[in-house]
Amino acid sequence: MQTGQDLILILDFGSQLTQLIARRLREIHFYSEILPFHTDLEKIKALKPKGIILSGGPASVYEAGSPQKNLKEVLEIAPVLGICYGMQLLTKELGGVVERSDHREYGFNRVKWSKPLSPKIPLLQKTWMSHGDVVKTVPPEFEIVAMSEGAHPAAMKSDRAWAVQFHPEVAHTELGIELLKSFATDLCGAKAQWDAPSMKKALQAKALALVGKDEHILCGLSGGVDSSVVATLLTEVFGKERVHCVFVDNGLLRFQEFESVMKTYLDRGLNVTGVDASKEFLLALKGLTDPEKKRKAIGRVFIEVFEKSIASDPRISLYRQQIRWLAQGTLYPDVIESVSFSGGPSQTIKSHHNVGGLPEKMKLKLLEPVRELFKDEVRVLGKELGLPEEMLGRHPFPGPGLSIRVMGEVTSESLEILKKADHIFISKLREHNLYHKIWQAFCVLTNVKTVGVQGDGRTYDQVLALRAVTSIDGMTADWFDFESGFLREVSNEITNKVRGISRVVYDITSKPPSTIEWE
Ligand code: XMP
Repeated sequence: MQTGQDLILILDFGSQLTQLIARRLREIHFYSEILPFHTDLEKIKALKPKGIILSGGPASVYEAGSPQKNLKEVLEIAPVLGICYGMQLLTKELGGVVERSDHREYGFNRVKWSKPLSPKIPLLQKTWMSHGDVVKTVPPEFEIVAMSEGAHPAAMKSDRAWAVQFHPEVAHTELGIELLKSFATDLCGAKAQWDAPSMKKALQAKALALVGKDEHILCGLSGGVDSSVVATLLTEVFGKERVHCVFVDNGLLRFQEFESVMKTYLDRGLNVTGVDASKEFLLALKGLTDPEKKRKAIGRVFIEVFEKSIASDPRISLYRQQIRWLAQGTLYPDVIESVSFSGGPSQTIKSHHNVGGLPEKMKLKLLEPVRELFKDEVRVLGKELGLPEEMLGRHPFPGPGLSIRVMGEVTSESLEILKKADHIFISKLREHNLYHKIWQAFCVLTNVKTVGVQGDGRTYDQVLALRAVTSIDGMTADWFDFESGFLREVSNEITNKVRGISRVVYDITSKPPSTIEWE
């Protein structure tokens, strides 16, 4: 993306940690982008990067089919930092020797610096490593500036390149961020200017350049952070007359969520049409118990409702001729081209669960203003745009909503029970200042009945499960270790106040082996 800012470019050699390098750099205000290692040199040159980082990767540099790059040419474009595989490839390409080590270095490893690459780095630094190959001989113009406990070169430098065998981007590496900062500042001379106002300016300029003077934009709102930020950003640029938002109530949102989110949208000055389609969704879910069938039914009905409301609501249909764009909250992790172990690139573009197929059907172009941002940056941007913390800090919520938290068939009664119980759980989390320590928390109506004694009578009602996890990105997760008193309080309140639940259990499974959602 054109930001007018200094760019640190990351070439991906297939590491799981590549995205983390970009996130760390942006956290310290250097704009960074990721491209696959095989990107054309001309394309790299055209981006005018101030520095280039070579990521780690699972391959071995001499292995057939391993990702290769002519690094002499890369070095002519900008200073380079090689990380792990990046260090080994630099070594190989510039005339040094890499070899397989019988002493693999995985996990924590203390590194001893003779000449630290940043003045803030301690001479004995705790680092995190994950490699089987090591540098045996550094290339001619390089000097070794740190050694590992296993007596291998852990860092080397020349006038134009630095390389480290450990991963400065992971939190386990002590002051790893200082190394990234020194590289960007001292070796590349880049300026750290990527912050909320510049983010907003760059994204708005990009949208302005794309959308024609008389063109209008359609925007589907889900109540979540991404679509809310997109709608607000675009409304600020093009005005509410040209940005038409549709917020569909599928009846599967949390307790009173539709009403409160709708109010926020209106308060923020969005031109939003609220559509109550809860009956249509419930009807489509009737008789369905398989989670994938539920997901498909919801996707299908969403498109039907969306199309119908656009055709029938005069506030939108009047502008049908001018509406040329469909805005979507696609994020950077969804569009980064990932590099697989074999070295062959594989495209992993996630289609948005809600509007898949809509742009072609309605002959609209896709507008994805935040496609270069990470989730945490979207939140920062949302704050800059004045969206309330309550909306920005909310736990992630799946597109199919509560339908995948009612096991088996979804009915209006089961939804009512689940909404009430979930509201109690979430309110208790907020009351005990636990909400923001948890990545995602919710209740699941298990569709299992057990016997209870409530009042003077015997009941035969449902088991409700509580789920609360910590996570970075939802890919892996750990269950949250509540104090027993808290769980007791939640359980009492739910069984006392929510008719239909006779037992409450807490899910103590991490991901993997489980998933976060139950369906
Ligand atoms: P799992 O259950 O796969 O969830 O561990 C990881 C994250 O993804 C969310 N999730 C979904 N989000 N549509 C969505 O938009 C879906 O069908 C869906 N399924 C799971 C889940 O809430 C968690 O944040």
